Amino acid sequence: PEAITVQELANRMAERGGEVVKTLMKMGVMATITQSIDADTAELVVEEFGHRSKRVSAQDVEIGLRGSADDDALLRPRAPVVTVMGHVDHGKTSLLDALRKTDVAAHEAGGITQHIGAYQIEVPSGDKITFLDTPGHAAFSEMRSRGANVTDIVILVVAADDGIMAQTIEAINHAKAAGVPIIVAINKIDVPGANPNKVKQALLQHELVPEDMGGDVICVEVSAKTRQGLDNLLDILLLQAELLELKANPERNAEGTVVESKLEQGRGAVATVLVQRGTLKVGDIFVAGAESGRVRALLNDRGERVESAGPSVPVEVLGLSGTPEAGDDLVVVEDEARAREIASFRADKKKTATMATQGRGTLEQMLSAI
Ligand code: GTP
Ligand code: MG
Repeated sequence: PEAITVQELANRMAERGGEVVKTLMKMGVMATITQSIDADTAELVVEEFGHRSKRVSAQDVEIGLRGSADDDALLRPRAPVVTVMGHVDHGKTSLLDALRKTDVAAHEAGGITQHIGAYQIEVPSGDKITFLDTPGHAAFSEMRSRGANVTDIVILVVAADDGIMAQTIEAINHAKAAGVPIIVAINKIDVPGANPNKVKQALLQHELVPEDMGGDVICVEVSAKTRQGLDNLLDILLLQAELLELKANPERNAEGTVVESKLEQGRGAVATVLVQRGTLKVGDIFVAGAESGRVRALLNDRGERVESAGPSVPVEVLGLSGTPEAGDDLVVVEDEARAREIASFRADKKKTATMATQGRGTLEQMLSAI
């Protein structure tokens, strides 16, 4: 059943929370301000206060949250979003680190500073590429299962001295399910005994046919250690991106996806968000999953404060009411009331869903919630 917290009910009636608690008490319902009451009880309270009530479902509340498709004329090219996947220890992180060192700006700033799970590089030609450092495949599939298709291209890292392993196959399946192009980076070719051809042969068994075997899967031989093949990999990524003709409208309220979030001492809830369309600005009011907020500060992947972030740009967002989950959306809305309304409906929905799935203890929870 639908539920609402006492606080939220008070907010919506523009009454004081304490008054609502008192009214509930008179009705024989013991509930604190943070607890949820069911819709029937809420309706009685509303009547008690002499207001009129109207029930709305979460679906109704969400209508029009995400803007309609953009007119072609408003679309501008955007950087590709690339996710690196592969078996444990095959060199994903090393490769990302090595690629990051090709960033023009990183050179100027004197190297790598901050790790935020997502970063963008600018290659000498001026083109940009956004890389996502997904913490494991579980997170990737979790994000996808929740409707967040954030990646345009997958780099499948396979160590030339180890070949295709269990998690390589998992990664292949995830990439296929997401329907995005796969570029195979055959890594560690500097290692004695590395056998790139064996890797290519093995790919055939997973319906990935390398180009030089008559297929359409591009394989690049690289070494994250010696940096061999990195420029080639970047060229191929940019070429692939060009074919995809990736575009977004930067001139609209921002919409994006939460890549990760955490509570930090002194900074509160912080979320790394990949903006997908529009431009996120300091001061924007937003809903992010079951949380809401106003952008207090934006930090880029080098930890520097920025005023705004456009499509394909990853940023850290400060000013959240709490930590949303990876894969949650972040959508800028007109005002705080709307942001809170949507967030609270989602929170209630989540609570109800949790209660429904938590077989044991459900009764106690329901009782304590009433
Ligand atoms: P997980 O995050 O644990 O799944 O591993 P990963 O895929 O991120 O691998 P990581 O980058 O941590 O590399 C694993 C090990 O391989 C490290 O000891 C790296 O130094 C080494 N390594 C990575 N790339 C190369 C390479 O191109 N050549 C050589 N010789 N070693 C490499
Ligand atoms: Mg790693």
